Amino acid sequence: VLKDNTIIIVFGASGDLAKKKTFPALFTLLRQDFLPRDVKIVGYARTKMDKEEFHKRITSYIKNPNDDPEIAAKIEKFKSISTYVPGDYDDGAAFDNLNQYLEEIESSYQSKERHRLFYLALPPSVFIPVCKNVKEHCYIKKNGINRIIIEKPFGKDLESARELLGTVKKYWSEDETFRIDHYLGKEMVKNLLVLRFANIALSAAWDKNSVSNVQITFKEPFGTEGRGGYFDEFGIIRDVLQNHLLQVLSVLAMERPVSFSAEDIRDEKVKVLRAIPPIEPKDTLLGQYVSANGKPGYLDDDTVPRNSVCPTYAATTLWIHNPRWEGVPFILKAGKALNEAKVEVRIQFKEVTQGIFSDISRNELVIRIQPSEAVYLKINAKTPGLQTRAMPTEMDLTYKRRFLHAKIPEAYEALILDALNGDHSNFVRHDELDVAWKIFTPILHWIDGLNGQRPRPVPYPYGSRGPKELEAFVEKYGFKRANAGYVWPIASLA
Ligand code: BG6
Repeated sequence: VLKDNTIIIVFGASGDLAKKKTFPALFTLLRQDFLPRDVKIVGYARTKMDKEEFHKRITSYIKNPNDDPEIAAKIEKFKSISTYVPGDYDDGAAFDNLNQYLEEIESSYQSKERHRLFYLALPPSVFIPVCKNVKEHCYIKKNGINRIIIEKPFGKDLESARELLGTVKKYWSEDETFRIDHYLGKEMVKNLLVLRFANIALSAAWDKNSVSNVQITFKEPFGTEGRGGYFDEFGIIRDVLQNHLLQVLSVLAMERPVSFSAEDIRDEKVKVLRAIPPIEPKDTLLGQYVSANGKPGYLDDDTVPRNSVCPTYAATTLWIHNPRWEGVPFILKAGKALNEAKVEVRIQFKEVTQGIFSDISRNELVIRIQPSEAVYLKINAKTPGLQTRAMPTEMDLTYKRRFLHAKIPEAYEALILDALNGDHSNFVRHDELDVAWKIFTPILHWIDGLNGQRPRPVPYPYGSRGPKELEAFVEKYGFKRANAGYVWPIASLA
């Protein structure tokens, strides 16, 4: 555990990720007294800026709409512990300079102990030089712990990921490395462990005998909007499916870990991922959004190459060859520029034995990851009244109603705190990433045209539910839409 005498160094401090996620998360941790005592935050990036400009940037996403004096005071405190050092990423001397600066801060410590947490909010192009330079110039060799937080993209396929992560490994041990997949920091993803293993009623139905199909869905209502240059190189599968959705799948499908320790959990995740063969083209549906209702299509984004066939929507079906899941399709779906913002897991159970009922809806367990966290189980009940008719209804755990005053932490808050505490449970292990790439690399190479012509994604209108082919796609895997007319009444709370 990193307690006192800790410095958090944020590389890429002038960038978007740092501004939108890293600094606001650090602020909330400070505000709630979760940061180590006397912590200092040092930003580092190429941009030259003075303290005032830096402070403006790091607080630009921190909200205090009602001018709460307590929050205002904490913002001042946050500024007072945050400083900035400009410098290049590939220049050893600049890192010596940074190190000197860190040592100056540390010279005021009472004890010899000192710790450094390095957070790399950086584009892939400078990722390796920074890993190397930090190790060679800013690493504490005595009386302290060094940790490094890194974030995707971790390569573009199995080979490039191995090369990239292999290079990181030359400088940083597994114990020191924290690979973020921020979906693992989300409250409802963390909740999966408790839902699954603390409830006999759920765990008893968690297999091929009861489950017909599983969908893990990610929907965003906006397109690439200016980020197209970056996105086009990666596509939706590398951006969301291979990491975020596959992580959710692994926690959803793994066997019960021996304990809640990081290695026990990650051992189980790796085991289930190893039972998944590479995805096949026939189990894949690709889409790209086109202009509709005054909104621009993907190809209208100036930063996107002309005639790009990069998928902004993908549905893929994965199969897990183990005794628990043999034959159950796990459908991962993600898309940009859709009709709503929503991430959810939908487990559809098998048909009830026919005979006394006909045409009755299937049970479904829905875990709404965001927005408006919820778990609800669709069950059939008798329609109230004198007639005997079944109707689909729900048992509903909507967080906003059940936990009136709970504040759900942001993923980055939870993860930075874990890294400070040295807890790897919600970070991606080296071998986990390797299997994840094994599952996705063949389909990505197919999409990239490495084995012939690049497949053309089907068009879908901006703001729609996705490609019209989707309905037939999920039906092919046994998904059955509930009887007409069922709407989850709480959806309007979202
Ligand atoms: C990022 C992707 O990893 O996750 C983005 O690069 C995506 O394209 C984002 O928008 C979604 O994260 P969240 O937390 O908003 O669901």
